[in-house]
Amino acid sequence: MPTIFPILRDIQWDRYIEPFVGGGAIFFAVAPKVAVLADINPGLINAYRQVRDRCSEVVRILKRMPVSQEVYTRVRARTRVSGSRAAAEFLYINRTSFGGIHRVNRSGIMNVPFGGGQRTPRMLWHGDLLKRASSVLRGAELCVGDFESVVRHAGAGDVIFCDPTYALPDRRNGFDRYDSRIFVWDDQRRLYAAVLEAVRRGASAIISNVDDPRVRALYRKESIVRVKRFSGISRESRARGVVRELLIIIRAEKRVFGAQRMVRESDVSTRRNVSQATGPG
Ligand SMILES: C[S@@+](CC[C@H](N)C(=O)[O-])C[C@H]1O[C@@H](n2cnc3c(N)ncnc32)[C@H](O)[C@@H]1O
Repeated sequence: MPTIFPILRDIQWDRYIEPFVGGGAIFFAVAPKVAVLADINPGLINAYRQVRDRCSEVVRILKRMPVSQEVYTRVRARTRVSGSRAAAEFLYINRTSFGGIHRVNRSGIMNVPFGGGQRTPRMLWHGDLLKRASSVLRGAELCVGDFESVVRHAGAGDVIFCDPTYALPDRRNGFDRYDSRIFVWDDQRRLYAAVLEAVRRGASAIISNVDDPRVRALYRKESIVRVKRFSGISRESRARGVVRELLIIIRAEKRVFGAQRMVRESDVSTRRNVSQATGPG
């Protein structure tokens, strides 16, 4: 955050786009007035939509779900991905699974064990956390899909923040299966190509990635900042702790002269209202 915030302040933008939103750490910290958030996980995007539009209903359902191995196992087996009950179940699993990890098997079924009961959904209504999330989400368009389907609509006035899965050519990341597909090195290259097209149309981009020579080589033409962050989750406990990552920054103004906005309002965001936007913070 201390590295990303000044970069975001430096870039001229009026719409924030996050194509791998996951838990949305940066989105919620920035709290942009106008945003497009996307993820390949339909259950996650449904949860955000329901929290945005029917927050009290989601909390009401959640409060009635006891934290136990038995309920966890039953809820985990459910596959619905729409409506307020599905959103409550998604949040319940997220708050009660081991380490809050979301990982699925080849058939797309969640396979993380019960966390033991210490983590509970209580914090979601205590201090009105979900209500506050709901108000930050008010200006967000929420899309399910592959990152390319969203990045393709970015243009002048947009900033794209990407936090993809950290795949390498010869190594699978332990957390690369978020749906029945795996995020691989070719996807990293596909992401760079899609972002470059958006930058040519006038967007700016920040991409986080693993600090590895192959990633540095892929982005060798771009400005790269090395950062350290604490990671509390890992398949191997010895890997927990400080991890080194890269932030790749690709600013529109360096490449684009007189860029035209190519996104039509109907393409992505029906909530777009440029005059509302204030930028980060
Ligand atoms: C590293 S996580 C993002 C974490 C996020 N920054 C946060 O604060 O929690 C990567 C996310 O990308 C999503 N994802 C994986 N492959 C994708 C793809 N091809 N297109 C869009 N999203 C994808 C996953 O579902 C996951 O939520």
